[in-house]
Amino acid sequence: MTVDKKIIMQTKDLTIRFGGLVAVNNFNMKIEEGELIGIIGPNGAGKTTIFNMITGVYVPTSGSVDLEGKSIVGQHVSHITQKGIARTFQNIRLFKDLSVIDNIKLAAHYRTNYSLFDSIIRNKKFKNEEERIYNEAMEILKIFGLEKKSTLLAKNLPYGEQRRLEIARALATRPKLLLLDEPAAGMNPKETNDLTELIRWVRDHFKISILLIEHDMKLVMNVCERIYVVDHGEEIAMGLPKEIQNNKKVIEAYLGTSDEEAL
Ligand SMILES: Nc1ncnc2c1ncn2[C@@H]1O[C@H](COP(=O)(O)OP(=O)(O)OP(=O)(O)O)[C@@H](O)[C@H]1O
Ligand SMILES: [Mg+2]
Repeated sequence: MTVDKKIIMQTKDLTIRFGGLVAVNNFNMKIEEGELIGIIGPNGAGKTTIFNMITGVYVPTSGSVDLEGKSIVGQHVSHITQKGIARTFQNIRLFKDLSVIDNIKLAAHYRTNYSLFDSIIRNKKFKNEEERIYNEAMEILKIFGLEKKSTLLAKNLPYGEQRRLEIARALATRPKLLLLDEPAAGMNPKETNDLTELIRWVRDHFKISILLIEHDMKLVMNVCERIYVVDHGEEIAMGLPKEIQNNKKVIEAYLGTSDEEAL
């Protein structure tokens, strides 16, 4: 007998309209504790819009998003982060003029418990907390092989490392669910291979769930346990990588576009 795992995040009939366009239509998904799930689909299918609704950037027109069984619809982005959902963006969004470590420390400050007063008088509580945050930030940087670059400005890192730093920053908020929007975009094959390993390792090490959007089919098929396929805002298939690769609707959706990375 298999024991049902806890559901971390679930969407029910998630729908959003922009004027006349239904960008996402009745999208249902369930992610269990520790799962590594993919969302794929042609350009403009609605993948990033799904992330934006899960993280509170957009409020859905209808439908729900539950985190650990409780609705988070309508909550502010920062509340949703505090409750345990972190993300990276399709186009890297770092504080480019801050150092690598400050990017991580800022994210970790979501979890500080000193007051503004403590920070002004710089008392022991403040100093202990700052030290803890520094140590934790360095630990995360080590995992991502960025510890020797901690004082560099984020903008001076090569592209692949900026992408890794963004994942590291998301992890510094200690999420239960990590959303990665095209983490391999712009990476060379070696960087993509390393990233594949890293994603798996992060899931195992931090014991979190990961949902990723990706056009790199090799990465998706290697790393994801289940895959949702969306086209024109709707789920057209869901299943194991093998099932998705052989799904007629999926193949048609890709061949119907100019996407060169068709299955
Ligand atoms: N704020 C918005 N206002 C109007 N239309 C929007 C908005 N955000 C997204 N859309 C539209 O919703 C549709 C889905 O966009 P989305 O960015 O989610 O696609 P995607 O699957 O992430 O594509 P890609 O693979 O190219 O990143 C597109 O037609 C897009 O133009
Ligand atoms: Mg997108």
